[in-house]
Amino acid sequence: MVATTIPVDAFDLVIIGGTGDLSRRKILPGLFRRMCAGQMPDTARVIGASRSDMDKAGFQAFVRKALEEFAGETQCDDGAVDRFLELIDYETLDVFADDGWKRLKKKLRPDVIRSVYFSVGPSLFGEIARKLSAHGVTDDHSRIVVEKPFGHDLETAKELNAELRACFKEEQIYRIDHYLGKETVQNLMAVRFGNALFEPLWNAQHVDHVQITVAETVSVDGRGAYYDKSGAMRDMVQNHIMQLLCLTAMEPPSKYGADAVRDEKLKVIRALEPVAMDEVVRGQYSAGGDIADYLTHSENPKSKTESFIAMKVKIANWRWAGTPFYIRTGKRLRKRMSEIAIVFKDPPHSIFDGDFNRKGNVLVIRLQPDEGMTLRVTIKEPGPGGMRLTEVPLDMTFAEALGDQVAFMPDAYERLIMDVIRGDQTLFMRGDEVEAAWNWVDPIIDAWQSANDTPSEYDANGSGPEDSLMLLHREGRRWREIKS
Ligand code: BG6
Repeated sequence: MVATTIPVDAFDLVIIGGTGDLSRRKILPGLFRRMCAGQMPDTARVIGASRSDMDKAGFQAFVRKALEEFAGETQCDDGAVDRFLELIDYETLDVFADDGWKRLKKKLRPDVIRSVYFSVGPSLFGEIARKLSAHGVTDDHSRIVVEKPFGHDLETAKELNAELRACFKEEQIYRIDHYLGKETVQNLMAVRFGNALFEPLWNAQHVDHVQITVAETVSVDGRGAYYDKSGAMRDMVQNHIMQLLCLTAMEPPSKYGADAVRDEKLKVIRALEPVAMDEVVRGQYSAGGDIADYLTHSENPKSKTESFIAMKVKIANWRWAGTPFYIRTGKRLRKRMSEIAIVFKDPPHSIFDGDFNRKGNVLVIRLQPDEGMTLRVTIKEPGPGGMRLTEVPLDMTFAEALGDQVAFMPDAYERLIMDVIRGDQTLFMRGDEVEAAWNWVDPIIDAWQSANDTPSEYDANGSGPEDSLMLLHREGRRWREIKS
């Protein structure tokens, strides 16, 4: 059974930075897939805008190439690429000059949804916002889409928010965190709030601890200059991992709606306790196989930036007091594996004699790869010879359970762009949420800087630094293995 797709209304989408990497790899192929899925109507138009001096035909050739490279497996009829190219237009635009904006305005239609994707660095956000509104390219109903990094710390995030809010209302600003567009991340809400089974157990009384892991095999090669100023804390924790933490820990919102969900996430961030320095472990990968070490990739031989981080996070509220959330993320680890594991407490009393190697009930929500869920349960070991216990996984891989529906599942970007057109902000970060996240993260980074903290080295293709294992061992717990 293939999922039904409801077409969105007619729209004009301007991609500023239309010839950039994000546009080529994600935005344009994503829109193409939505057209093939019947969701993007042929009344839609996509207008690339960038400094490159090219005409419409030149941009169409650029789009064709992007689709060949990055939309390879899309199921579509033979004429689809040509149909998509008919929806494409282009405008040469120098953000700081006026003439390009005037020409751009003339290209846009008055009666369709108008969205502008800022697919450029954040240093241009303010100027673009001002030019859009000064030239009347956008109006009170238009939407703007901005990408991470949203600020470098609380102060810069506040400045960015102020610049955008000077020209647009919060309801018009769509801040992307692509993790929120991932299927399984949304499934977390479906699992928690669509079943009566889990919610009564989802608290400190029954949950021993939670582990959130986002392990990557990639290095920072090719983006060392950006990454070295950022590190795992700013690149992954402040945004993606905090979103996962919030969705796991939040109270049930009164409904699935933008402000109801975001209010609850914000309450979690505001309830996070400051992190003690001995509860954070930072690491930097060493060389392994043919791949160089972090210092070579970052091109800064003295860099103290972390490519791995593990930490114990405490949420000071009624639901979670006493139940730690352990989070970790890193580059060049053994396997690509992202999951949220809810580790339940043991039953209060065992009625069975004898011992077995109990690991306990664990609910694992696998984000990638192999999206799905596993619940480890205790059962009787089969056969005669008395009551012996063992543990087995109740495993559900979404691809198996849902068949064709998974094959047609949109990736994070295409889903989020369609949400912009539909005007649904549920899966976008609100300004106050971003600021609250920086407010929690900044003191941790400041403390490393004032202590001149040096990250521990860790082996490429391993599980991270030794001290990150100790973070749990010393509390009688252990990380789940990083494996595919
Ligand atoms: C990006 C980070 O936001 O997310 C990258 O900048 C990271 O460093 C990437 O590799 C991970 O995304 P995904 O979807 O591959 O898990």
